[in-house]
Amino acid sequence: MPYEFILTETRGRVALIRLNRSKQMNALNPKLMQELGQALDGYDADDGVGAIVITGNEKAFAAGADIAVMQNYSFMDVYKSNYITRDWEHIRNIRKPVIAAVAGYALGGGCELAMMCDIVIAAESAKFGQPEINLGTFPGAGGTQRLPRAVGKAKAMDLCLSARMMDAAEAERSGLVSRVVPSDKLMDEALAVAEKIASYSLPVAMMVKEAVNRAYETTLSEGVHFERRMFHATFGLDDQKEGMAAFVEKRKPVFKHR
Ligand code: CAA
Repeated sequence: MPYEFILTETRGRVALIRLNRSKQMNALNPKLMQELGQALDGYDADDGVGAIVITGNEKAFAAGADIAVMQNYSFMDVYKSNYITRDWEHIRNIRKPVIAAVAGYALGGGCELAMMCDIVIAAESAKFGQPEINLGTFPGAGGTQRLPRAVGKAKAMDLCLSARMMDAAEAERSGLVSRVVPSDKLMDEALAVAEKIASYSLPVAMMVKEAVNRAYETTLSEGVHFERRMFHATFGLDDQKEGMAAFVEKRKPVFKHR
């Protein structure tokens, strides 16, 4: 399907989505977010895809929501159309693992988009921040909620209130990103991680994602209960039989994703 603001391709069982508004630092306008949502929904429904990578370019993952588009919105425009919720929430509903491969700026909505993904892998050039206060507004795509969960209250307050940027090393130290790699290795690393994940049983990878995400939404005892039931459910999968038999028989498992 031809898109205007994203490029899509599949490599084996990995889908790659590249944000493609490089002149505007991949500023996230509504059409781009709609296209991203459509592409993600399509890959989520595609049995041939086991993991998805979202990336930008060397200069920017995304420098935020499109300020030129937003500048004249009225309260009624954003409230009635449910701005952000309308076009951004698709990502939360994607059940397959999604990796953000971040080089350059991930600011405002760009940082928030990365945080909606399951794993963030950063190039050494990556810079994260929530600078919306510069614009007389504040993070509106989950930044005030996901950033404190990722990096703690102190750093989240610092970033949202001072508008300063955090480099890749600080982002890794703080728990926002899982690995930092040399800039020229970013895509190799992100695609290799995605390929690895996609080689495992798809229903199990989906259950892992669901269970870890539950940790953000509930109490420890409820979360552990949920995990236990999902763990029990894996015993109904052919892939659990295959995975354990392969271990016992000292061979590689062949997962059928069921
Ligand atoms: N929206 C619209 N256009 C943007 C943009 C954005 N978020 N970020 C960059 N651009 C555009 C610039 O206007 C510029 O366009 P022109 O060439 O037509 O002038 C082009 O991209 C290149 O940007 P710069 O010339 O500014 O490049 P730079 O290297 O000097 O600076 C930058 C890069 C530090 C990322 C700077 O562009 C910047 O500060 N961008 C805005 C960051 C920001 O405030 N993000 C938050 C947006 S609000 C938001 O996201 C709300 C929310 O929570 C959902």
